Amino acid sequence: MAPLLLLLLGLLSLILGLLRGRNRRDGEPPLIKGWIPFVGKALEFGRDAHTFLEEHKKKFGDIFTVKIAGKYMTFIMDPLLYPNIIKHGRQLDFHEFSGKVAPFTFGYPPVTSRNFPGLQEQISRSFQLLQGDSLTSLTESMMGNLMLVFRQDHLGERTGEEGDWKSVSMYEFCNSVMFEATFLTMYGRPASSSRHHGMGVLREDFVKFDNMFPLLIAQIPIWLLGQTKAIRKKLIDYFLPHKMSSWSNTSQFIRRRSELFEQYDTMRDVDKAAHHFAILWASVGNTVPACFWAMYYLVSQPEALEVVRQEILDILNLRGVKFSSDRDVTLSKEQLDKLLYLESAINESLRLSSASMNIRVAQEDFGLRLNGERSVAVRKGDIIALYPQSMHMDPEIYEEPQTFRLDRYIQDGREKTDFYKDGQKLKYYRMPFGSGSSMCPGRYFAINEIKQFLSILLLYFDLQLEEGQTRATVDSSRAGLGILLPTTDVRFRYRLRTV
Ligand code: HEM
Ligand SMILES: *[C@@H]1O[C@H](CO)[C@@H](O)[C@H](O)[C@H]1NC(C)=O
Ligand SMILES: *[C@@H]1O[C@H](CO)[C@@H](O)[C@H](O)[C@H]1NC(C)=O
Repeated sequence: MAPLLLLLLGLLSLILGLLRGRNRRDGEPPLIKGWIPFVGKALEFGRDAHTFLEEHKKKFGDIFTVKIAGKYMTFIMDPLLYPNIIKHGRQLDFHEFSGKVAPFTFGYPPVTSRNFPGLQEQISRSFQLLQGDSLTSLTESMMGNLMLVFRQDHLGERTGEEGDWKSVSMYEFCNSVMFEATFLTMYGRPASSSRHHGMGVLREDFVKFDNMFPLLIAQIPIWLLGQTKAIRKKLIDYFLPHKMSSWSNTSQFIRRRSELFEQYDTMRDVDKAAHHFAILWASVGNTVPACFWAMYYLVSQPEALEVVRQEILDILNLRGVKFSSDRDVTLSKEQLDKLLYLESAINESLRLSSASMNIRVAQEDFGLRLNGERSVAVRKGDIIALYPQSMHMDPEIYEEPQTFRLDRYIQDGREKTDFYKDGQKLKYYRMPFGSGSSMCPGRYFAINEIKQFLSILLLYFDLQLEEGQTRATVDSSRAGLGILLPTTDVRFRYRLRTV
């Protein structure tokens, strides 16, 4: 897929990019253009963004501008400079970028104030319903839905007293459980049953769409992508208002958004549905791989897994109590907040697997202040980019950065927050959820649902990796877009625990 992406990127910028090359002006960062007109360095960047940036950092220093597919992107590589970029709200805009890319990818009309007065603000406001008080009911609902899916799909078939091992693929397992439980929590259930019919097909279509996601984000026209348009239409149609209105126990967040869309006569039913579909992507697209990596690292380190399991038993006051699989567990938000080792494990796996790019677009020509004495000139329309993966993998900040350490974020029984670069304490040292004004509004819910998923797993099951497999590695072809997927799936065994 990557070569296709690059070819298309190249073609597209050839067609669209009547941009003339430019030369570096005084005060601007080093400029790297590559020798292919228009395409610039897109080929190398697309192949392996992390290595590309590390090599350029060695050659050109902490700040440099690269021409990528017709766009000039200035990378700020030193994490000590992040705070200054992140707080630059006025001159560096995020929504100019997301406002174009998201509608193109998910198939709804751009949310401009001309077509839909006030909608952008209302949408942003709806994100509050993923946090605060609403988070409590979301979290409760998620627990119920996770238990429902686990009980019906994985806790039922008890074979023999000891319970037999069952062997499955880990990514597939995480995907089937989390996709459905998250779906039920967000959108609710059908009027007359507890689960939606055809969830398996929906999930398969979603995976097909998701495979094309990087190409759509790169603005490749959807008609060039085979069946993708038809698949997207099928996915969108799932959320048409007349279907959704018959569902019950829909989250407040989604209900608010539906009500909001009703206020706009200019919005067609398919547009409303496409907005709901975009939220489906936002709520599972990163969460599923994040669950995979957290589960994978714990299952590959049985001692770490046992520490976390004991912590959960402690918090639930279950240690020593005979825990039976007939019993449903509930984990309140307060209990989830106390699970320090579990949280460290999740944050550590996010550090290892996330590769999101934080993007801002310069609104005018100006001098971007980096710290007390230093600033660089940027031009209107230029993209300023942070690439936190470089920080996550910096051995000066994180000793043995490739290794999963359960207690990476724990010190003296509390959360560890001091990490250093050049002897200075970092304000930002882990950024899987973006930064500043564009930070993921679902981050608290995401961490809670991953905690719930892992807690259920560890309480009910013995878990083992199957022998003879190579270590799971990240597939970098989606670098820049969030949590990376594993190159290949991993086999594991599980059986009901007999405590
Ligand atoms: C581990 C799981 C997750 C990760 C790593 C993640 C990461 C991100 C990132 C990096 C962004 C873009 C921020 C930027 O560009 O600066 C984002 C945006 C967003 N996320 Fe998440 N996310 C996760 C889970 C969720 C969940 C569970 C929800 C909802 C239930 C959600 C809802 C959203 C929404 C609505 C946006 C767009 C915000 C906007 O337009 O301003 N995310 N997420
Ligand atoms: C549905 O919502 C009601 C009230 O909001 C709640 O009492 C009930 O437990 C929920 N049912 C399910 C299956 O989540
Ligand atoms: C884990 O990450 C979340 C979100 O970034 C943060 O709020 C929490 O304090 C972190 N916990 C630990 C133990 O690192």
